[in-house]
Amino acid sequence: MATNPASPTVADIFKTMDYGPAPESDKEALAWLGKHHQKFGHYIGGAWTKPGKAFDVINPATAKVIARVTDGTKADVDAAVAAASKALPAWKALSPHARARYLYAIARAVQKHSRLLAVLESMDNGKSIRETRDIDIPLVARHFYHHAGWAQLLDTEFAGYEAIGVVGQIIPWNFPLLMLAWKIAPALAGGNTLVLKPAEFTPLSAMAFAEIVHEVGLPPGVVNLVNGHGETGAAIVDHPGVDKIAFTGSTEVGRIIRKATAGSGKKLSLELGGKSPFIVYDDADLDSVVEGVVDAIWFNQGQVCCAGSRLLVQEGIAERLVAKLRLRMEKLRLGSPLDKAVDMGAIVAPVQLERIRELVQQGVDEGATMWQPSWACPTEGCFYPPTLFTDVQPSSTIAQVEIFGPVLVTMTFRTPEESVAIANNTPYGLAASVWTESINLALDIAPKIKAGVVWVNSTNLFDAAAGFGGYRESGFGREGGREGMWEYVKRGERRAPKVAQPAKRPAARKAPRAASAGGGLPPVDRTPKLFIAGKQARPDGAYTRRIVSPSGAPVGEAPEGNRKDIRNAVEAAHAAKGWGRATGHNRAQILYYIAENLAARADEFTARIESMTECGSELARAEVDASIARLFTYGAWADKYDGAVHSVPIRGVAIAMNEPIGVIGIACDERYPLLGMLSLAAPAVATGNTTIVIPSQRHPLAATDFYAILETSDLPAGVINIVTGDKDALAKVLAEHDDVEAMWYRGGREGAKAIELASASNMKRTWTAWDDRDWLDRDEGEGREFLRAATNVKNIWVPYGE
Ligand code: NAI
Ligand code: MG
Repeated sequence: MATNPASPTVADIFKTMDYGPAPESDKEALAWLGKHHQKFGHYIGGAWTKPGKAFDVINPATAKVIARVTDGTKADVDAAVAAASKALPAWKALSPHARARYLYAIARAVQKHSRLLAVLESMDNGKSIRETRDIDIPLVARHFYHHAGWAQLLDTEFAGYEAIGVVGQIIPWNFPLLMLAWKIAPALAGGNTLVLKPAEFTPLSAMAFAEIVHEVGLPPGVVNLVNGHGETGAAIVDHPGVDKIAFTGSTEVGRIIRKATAGSGKKLSLELGGKSPFIVYDDADLDSVVEGVVDAIWFNQGQVCCAGSRLLVQEGIAERLVAKLRLRMEKLRLGSPLDKAVDMGAIVAPVQLERIRELVQQGVDEGATMWQPSWACPTEGCFYPPTLFTDVQPSSTIAQVEIFGPVLVTMTFRTPEESVAIANNTPYGLAASVWTESINLALDIAPKIKAGVVWVNSTNLFDAAAGFGGYRESGFGREGGREGMWEYVKRGERRAPKVAQPAKRPAARKAPRAASAGGGLPPVDRTPKLFIAGKQARPDGAYTRRIVSPSGAPVGEAPEGNRKDIRNAVEAAHAAKGWGRATGHNRAQILYYIAENLAARADEFTARIESMTECGSELARAEVDASIARLFTYGAWADKYDGAVHSVPIRGVAIAMNEPIGVIGIACDERYPLLGMLSLAAPAVATGNTTIVIPSQRHPLAATDFYAILETSDLPAGVINIVTGDKDALAKVLAEHDDVEAMWYRGGREGAKAIELASASNMKRTWTAWDDRDWLDRDEGEGREFLRAATNVKNIWVPYGE
């Protein structure tokens, strides 16, 4: 139809119509800032401190100073920790229901003040009001409601567990109030008190939150907020009165915190950066994909830890998709965050804007093709246009580094296998999106991607009922859901008295067995070897160590494993990773078979343990029997450690799968040489991990005897590798190894510290302890605690419906 400018049709008008300004009023927020004279101290012990030496809080959309906030000193942190410690006993002693009431009241108050909070957040951070109003603040309320529920159910659903104590929390600026909620809600539900530091770029919504906890009458000292920069954060991390640190932010700072807390016994959860893949297969619905990409990388200007920043497209559709994306990018609207009709607001701060510019320039310099829409960005304030890179090499800087801005890099792949390989070709592992109309393909790919969250035909979905968190250098620990609550509780003091143990027999001298060979002939050399890749392997070095009993009787020799042996064992463990795909039934069968073979040789192991430890035959026998039972326990668990289907408020499900972590290094303690080893190795193996075990250093011969059992038990080669020798030295090599994904260590505190320090290289998960667990006691020695340590929870979101 010809267009007549004099009498336009409705279609013409629709096409040429422009958006008018639709500003959200900032009056209420300005009044609130005015009420505080634009000046804030800290919120400690239920009261505001007098504002001290302060720094500017800037609205990045206008570059104007909107408030000044006090830079927290070490003394401020001391005062906050003291307030939290003082408040702890009473808060912990409250009934679960009473804590639930407080959380519920906070949720209600957040809803009541949602407009103020949304506007304030937009002004402080630069994100659009559409997002703060429709996403951030509603999710904040949802988080408190959901955790009011966990508070209520704490004593039944987390029976035997209790609050950790005083929790230190440090949050970033990209979702200021939402990250605060993700930290504070589970901490309070678990009965902890806390000190939280908001990000220096975005402290204002936290200040408004302080008023909310005041308003609902939360007991003073339960929530303390200290403003400041990295140094203030470091003072919280280093404070001896803090029992746990929860951090969200850059991997760089996460690594600093990992090192700073090493050996301190502080529990740690880290939610760090990402470079998440957004994978599009050739049967995907491309129009949905385009909207998905908008949400993946232009939501919050791409300043999202789980942003889908790497677009991986199957070759045949790449050109078509890129063309569609460019069209869509032309139509994105960028401008004042308080305008209700903009898609994109401002970048949080000049330093971040500069970082984005530099990385984009680097991409251009490295030869990739950069494209931006034709419209111009506002020149005042921190704005950056949506940006699309094509012709990107998977190894180039922009394909590897977290840009944390509205910049998407595109790469192509040919086959599903190749898509998985490229997706996993990053040190991170936070999230992934998978786009295909084939449910078979989607659910085949999801478990293969190293990421804590996988969205099928969707992206950036979050809910309080589903855990969120990473693999590898994206950190460890989960936030949200039942899996997130475990980060805020610890095993309680035991109520039941310990099982009585047979008294230790006085050390009796005995002739060493090996020397008693008959016939006057020299004994046949039975020096054990190491156990690597299913075979007994000679140690790399020729050294052995003499093993003597506590009274000094020689009981044999054990090889002295070294760095090279550990490397070989790690290689074998990697090669055996197919174990993770064996069925639970299959793993159970093998664990039972190992138990059966151990039972057949129970006498021999009893004698060995007795001669090594001089614990007396009764206790040695008890250890062997308990070892058989422990293997049965994990045979039982192998096909029962189910995941969950979380109730999230979408038309769809979030499937929480327990996945093996991968290769786990295990350094055992000394008290029960056989049972201690199996108590750790069995849960790891039952859940599909492969292992490198360093057995008891003083009494390693039960472990070396165990080779024979492993060799006859159908366990695939490489699932359990055993290296004897200097425990702390070998464990450190494992902790430093980048192909080891988790490290369990039991021993001394100094040893634990060394492990935690070394683990920072690839941010491997650690589980260290220097307590004296009684492995004979089922309560202490087995169960879900071990299975949780051996698995990562992956949440796979599957929306359904047309
Ligand atoms: P950052 O990691 O330095 O800041 C996050 C929080 O940690 C802030 O509250 C900060 O004050 C605090 N902090 C800094 N140094 C600390 C220390 N030594 N000890 C304790 N706390 C400390 O992140 P920044 O500098 O704001 O952003 C830099 C880059 O980090 C971004 O470009 C982005 O790539 C990444 N990032 C990732 C986030 C995520 O959610 N994954 C969030 C924020 C930043
Ligand atoms: Mg700001």
